[in-house]
Amino acid sequence: MTEIDLKIVREKAEKEIRAAQNRADLERIFHSYLGKRGQIALLFKELKDLSEEQRRGMGQKMNELKKYLEKILTQKKSILARVKGGAKKAEPSRFDLDRPGRKPEIGHLHPLTQTKREIMAIFASMGFVVAAGPEMENEWYNFDALNIPKDHPARDAWSTIWIKSPESTKLLLRTHTSPVQARYLEAHPPPLRIIVPGKVFRYEATDASHESQFYQLEGLMVDKKVSAASFKAVIAEFMKRFFGKNLEFRLRPDFFPFTEPSFDVAMTCLTCSGRGCPVCKKTGWLEVAGAGLVHPNVLRFSGLNPEKWQGWAFGFGWDRLAMMKYKIDDIRLFNSGNLRFLEQF
Ligand code: DAH
Repeated sequence: MTEIDLKIVREKAEKEIRAAQNRADLERIFHSYLGKRGQIALLFKELKDLSEEQRRGMGQKMNELKKYLEKILTQKKSILARVKGGAKKAEPSRFDLDRPGRKPEIGHLHPLTQTKREIMAIFASMGFVVAAGPEMENEWYNFDALNIPKDHPARDAWSTIWIKSPESTKLLLRTHTSPVQARYLEAHPPPLRIIVPGKVFRYEATDASHESQFYQLEGLMVDKKVSAASFKAVIAEFMKRFFGKNLEFRLRPDFFPFTEPSFDVAMTCLTCSGRGCPVCKKTGWLEVAGAGLVHPNVLRFSGLNPEKWQGWAFGFGWDRLAMMKYKIDDIRLFNSGNLRFLEQF
């Protein structure tokens, strides 16, 4: 046995310790070098074959080697312990540059906003401009200017949320987007075509097709001569483009104080394709808008001469349009903040 043997053992042990991945590896190395029947122990046994002088010299060297191996084993052990979960994760391979990245989540527009933009684009292409008005209205624009006099039973049709206020004109949360008709007419000389997408409020219990806060799309066209026929043509074009196909819709007589004659627009229920379902109350038809030829009083109240000007108007439930387009069976989902619902759009 020579010093070369010790050197070989040392280098081999160093190499193995360097490559050790975990505690089990270290234990195995410990046993193979420092254990009872380990390589150092075997070397010690060979000492007896040496001369006394050689034995002393080698004995000391072997003790040094033993201590050295113990030291580097302990060092490696603490390195492994520091890297939580073992050495595997500490390997450079965990920075895998080829691994596909995680897609960052980015938000998108609310389905009602998407619908609003689609609607605005369709009407814009037919020459309509977008108008807006306040969500907190006064009694005059929400009712009087629309030919709904005080104490008239027609007012009951709009379950109003009134606002306490010291002003002589009472304030309320607008119950429909129709007051913007009056506001716009006052400020803009005809001929004109506007749409008003807006939020409206009703003092009502909510269910699958009713919300106390919902959305309307008002439309108004005023010109020297307009007719129910031109109204029907515009609506047909809008429906075709919004729903992407020719849909059956029909006008039925109705009553609104601000139009004469008045009608409602009903379309084939898309939830059941007209076969009849709970959404359309088994009729196959769903009412989506009120409409009519603008009442002369509305023109008069806004300072226009009804002998000179005519108009037609409509008010769609714009969230209902979205419900039909995407076959959504509960209006309350829109404002629910439910991401599983919203992420589908
Ligand atoms: N404002 C009505 C409502 O909220 C809807 C409506 C009906 C609007 C007829 C109109 C119209 O412009 O002409 O029920």
